[in-house]
Amino acid sequence: MRETGGVRAVTISEPGGPDVLTWTEVPDPVPADGEVVVDVVAAGVNRADVMQRRGLYPPPPGAPEYPGLECSGTVDGREVCALLSGGGYAERVAVPRGQLLPVPRGLSLAEAAALPEVACTVWSNVVDVAGLRAGETLLVHGGGSGIGTFAIQLGRALGARVVATARAAKHERLRELGADRVVDYTAEDFVAATEGGADVVLDIVGGSYLQRNVDVLRTGGRIVTIGLQGGRSGELNLGALLAKRASITATTLRSRPAEDKARIVAGVREQVWPLVEAGTIRPVVDRTMPMAQAAAAHALMESSDHLGKIVLLARG
Ligand SMILES: NC(=O)c1ccc[n+]([C@@H]2O[C@H](COP(=O)([O-])OP(=O)(O)OC[C@H]3O[C@@H](n4cnc5c(N)ncnc54)[C@H](OP(=O)(O)O)[C@@H]3O)[C@@H](O)[C@H]2O)c1
Repeated sequence: MRETGGVRAVTISEPGGPDVLTWTEVPDPVPADGEVVVDVVAAGVNRADVMQRRGLYPPPPGAPEYPGLECSGTVDGREVCALLSGGGYAERVAVPRGQLLPVPRGLSLAEAAALPEVACTVWSNVVDVAGLRAGETLLVHGGGSGIGTFAIQLGRALGARVVATARAAKHERLRELGADRVVDYTAEDFVAATEGGADVVLDIVGGSYLQRNVDVLRTGGRIVTIGLQGGRSGELNLGALLAKRASITATTLRSRPAEDKARIVAGVREQVWPLVEAGTIRPVVDRTMPMAQAAAAHALMESSDHLGKIVLLARG
């Protein structure tokens, strides 16, 4: 604990299951030039943290070694939230100034911790890359994920028609968030269910959905792939892509340079934060758990029984 001179963080003892996560004392982070240290109150859990724990997604060079891509807390007594390259599962973390965001008015720190990673990922892909416009159709795969629950709300706020795939148990909540059509991907074909096709597909599945993602596109459609839960590779008939004058982009946020992250954070602050402060977009927090119980939080995420975000509390 800080009171006794140390800082606690969730460390990964070796690649493996949730039990390799240990809440333990670590050295206090030392900020580099341009960084500040956040006294962490809460940290969002992301699927990438699970991959890191399994040894499949190492932190980029220079990033803190502990898991955690977003947090909220205080800097010199001022409440903030932040996009991180790692290290959020800790009592203190160093972060480049350009990755700090104010806590949106009306939100608790626990709610604010659920936003930076999903807001930056979804805004940068759906708005910055794909340029979703009012009146278009956005297909969100994994509508019940942390990413999906945010994407549904942002798509709706931008005036798009939103179709979301998810298991049936999550459908009612996704309709409440603004999905116009929900598709049980375990029972229905999302291509047939997306009547009229999609202009933008936010894809977290990758390989196994590649051809059908192209099939569902309208002319001029854009696929933005951000996850590979269905594999890294797939076969694609390029003729269909060509005839539709369509594009496929794949991006990852974590490894982008700090200047790029700062640009995305600034875009989110300008275009997304007003929607959050107006209540048009709300953080969807499935539950909060003590950071010391990070192993249970990871087990929950791997079960996919959560809806939206799981948030860890540093002093929970
Ligand atoms: N590239 C980037 O910069 C970036 C940044 C953040 C996140 N991501 C990616 O975005 C994805 C979501 O992340 P998260 O942290 O929000 O995860 P999460 O909350 O754990 O959600 C993952 C969800 O994927 C759904 N899913 C699994 N297979 C599916 C399929 N075949 N079709 C449709 N949905 C399926 C599951 O929902 P059901 O219960 O409905 O099956 C599950 O809840 C992950 O793949 C993650 O790696 C990428």
